[in-house]
Amino acid sequence: MLMNAVEKAMMNNPVRAALQRHFEMPLLLELGGDLRGGRVLEVGCGRGVGTELILARSGAERVDAFDLDPEMVALARRRLRRYGDRVRVSVGDVEHIDAEDGAYDAVFDFGIIHHVPDWRNALSEIHRVLKPGGRLYAEEVLEKFILDPLWRRVLVHPLEDRFTHEGFRQALIETGFEMVGSRQLWHQFAWSVANKPDLPAATALTDRRAAAYAEGSLDER
Ligand SMILES: C[S@@+](CC[C@H](N)C(=O)[O-])C[C@H]1O[C@@H](n2cnc3c(N)ncnc32)[C@H](O)[C@@H]1O
Repeated sequence: MLMNAVEKAMMNNPVRAALQRHFEMPLLLELGGDLRGGRVLEVGCGRGVGTELILARSGAERVDAFDLDPEMVALARRRLRRYGDRVRVSVGDVEHIDAEDGAYDAVFDFGIIHHVPDWRNALSEIHRVLKPGGRLYAEEVLEKFILDPLWRRVLVHPLEDRFTHEGFRQALIETGFEMVGSRQLWHQFAWSVANKPDLPAATALTDRRAAAYAEGSLDER
């Protein structure tokens, strides 16, 4: 769901950029660590401040970034022009990510999943495009903020089935992620880092059974 004019004004200003630069990105990297290279995706990049931070601070080699709103994509392209081939910005939808399975080492979400009506589907898509061992860094807005009567009057968000901090963590785990770390503020904002495991749980179990069988500690009848 696209931002209305009020939210655009709240996002496209120096205060929001400073918050991303001095608080959100440092916190996500504190929770999840640096990437040390690799191919990174940013979903819902807005005007590209987060993309610039990923390029400058996370150690990413290349960043693909997309947003549902062509107006935001145009702003991001202008901001990111000087990074040349290291960045590609396009119009796209997090519910249908235009990338192969396992394409990325990391995915960043700066506050967009709460804009998606079927947000669990967005988590599944992110999980799909991450490599095994890849990492999701997410900053999100929680239901307490979205359903607040004042904010409901001035902003436009999907209102059904929003998430708490615990609800978001639980959904990540149900999608197949393993939590690395998370924080919340005032039950309104949350920062979460989660890994796509290297081996699917069932494969890991099969491998453990095979190893136990090989060393004779499992009776395979
Ligand atoms: C709150 S803004 C955050 C923008 C930017 N990440 C930032 O932190 O400044 C949410 C952004 O998500 C985008 N968005 C909403 N639904 C989306 C979807 N399904 N796929 C991709 N982007 C989406 C909006 O156009 C908007 O730019």
